[in-house]
Amino acid sequence: MQINEAISKRRSIRKFTGELPDEENLKAIIKAGEQAPVAMGKYGSFHMTILTNKDLLNKINEKAAAFFKNPKFNPLYDAPMLIIISAEKPSPGLENSIYSSAACIVENMALEAVEQNVGACLIWGAIASIANDQDILQALNIPEGSIPCCGIVLGKSDMPYKERSIALDRIQINEVK
Ligand SMILES: Cc1cc2nc3c(=O)[nH]c(=O)nc-3n(C[C@H](O)[C@H](O)[C@H](O)COP(=O)(O)O)c2cc1C
Repeated sequence: MQINEAISKRRSIRKFTGELPDEENLKAIIKAGEQAPVAMGKYGSFHMTILTNKDLLNKINEKAAAFFKNPKFNPLYDAPMLIIISAEKPSPGLENSIYSSAACIVENMALEAVEQNVGACLIWGAIASIANDQDILQALNIPEGSIPCCGIVLGKSDMPYKERSIALDRIQINEVK
């Protein structure tokens, strides 16, 4: 698949069959994450947690529902897998570099998920809700001193990826010449 096709077809998939992605599809998605750019090339500062433990997925769902004060909130959409990107705490003032880098990692993965026909949705809200929950961070084995930045849910889905016609004025542009 050409990159333009994957960009055009990518969309957030929030309905899953409950089945995990096949091993070779997952490998390709993780490889795409590994190939992403990160600030200053500090790859050693980043960590991926591949979570399929149902109890912990439920715990994160519950924590997020409480955080957003919405008991009906189901922010992981019953996906069978959540991959969390965490990063070492940067020096004060450089926080944007870890969140931006984590975004590059998950977006690469989301585009590869289109190629592999695996349902995917980027996740920030639920991750924000666990950022200070030491019990959950410990259960996830997030490295000491690291912050969970964002995530991506993955799983088989019946929702199709198809070419989308997207308005090209959704993001305002100004030129300074
Ligand atoms: C930084 C960022 C955070 C996001 N966080 C969430 C999230 O927590 N939950 C969710 O369902 N979607 C999340 N999304 C997906 C966006 O809602 C989605 O990409 C946007 O509405 C456009 O829809 P599309 O992905 O189908 O094109 C996030 C996307 C980005 C880029």
